Amino acid sequence: MRLDKLIEIVERASRTEIKRLLKSRQVLIDGEPELNGNRNVDSQLHRIEVAGKPVWTNHVYYLMNKPAGIVTAVSDINKKTVIDLLAPDDYRREIFPVGRLDRDTEGLVFLTDNGPLGYALAQAKFQVAKVYEAVINEEVTQADVTAFFEGIIFLDGTRCRPAQLEILSAALGESRIRLTIDEGKYHQVKKMFLARGKKVTYLKRLQLGPLLLDNNLAPGEYRSLTLLELQHLRSFF
Ligand code: URA
Repeated sequence: MRLDKLIEIVERASRTEIKRLLKSRQVLIDGEPELNGNRNVDSQLHRIEVAGKPVWTNHVYYLMNKPAGIVTAVSDINKKTVIDLLAPDDYRREIFPVGRLDRDTEGLVFLTDNGPLGYALAQAKFQVAKVYEAVINEEVTQADVTAFFEGIIFLDGTRCRPAQLEILSAALGESRIRLTIDEGKYHQVKKMFLARGKKVTYLKRLQLGPLLLDNNLAPGEYRSLTLLELQHLRSFF
């Protein structure tokens, strides 16, 4: 949560009062005066003090294994969304999925009610690595690996950043691959293969930045991040 928003809630402070508290060095983060009210904080990662009192945030951070058929959105008129998979006790109106997977894509979706964190993770400038496993309808070759490394150009001319393509198995009618990209264009993986004349028939996200999908989460299940996982996201705060 933004620090100024937190002060507003816990101190019931006006904008002027928030500015005064910050300027008069009465807001401490990890013992140091913090003057920047825009800053994103979480009391699991930071010791927050306002006017001599400790203050706590209570954000939620969920790692979900999205099944195929579910929409990565906050709401949808017809289809079930990742938000619909949350238990009533875990639901909050402010929770949103960070980035999106297509409806037929499975795998890791990160959900939070910490707006600035979600925004930072989705921003292109941070170049967050995303790892996918996919099945392709044709033989994937070393020429494809080279083309991905050099930067795929979509059929409409859009240029992608270099990506790391690893062939897990390759046969004429079907190949399995692992792909690491650090951007998030719409339908990116599918369009990258289309640019090579090949079709993705199955797609699963395994990793988003430092967050890994673990085998303990069945499709449709989710869990809170561990403190260690949250600490791995510290650079995005
Ligand atoms: N790329 C795609 O084409 N689809 C996804 O769901 C994610 C990445």
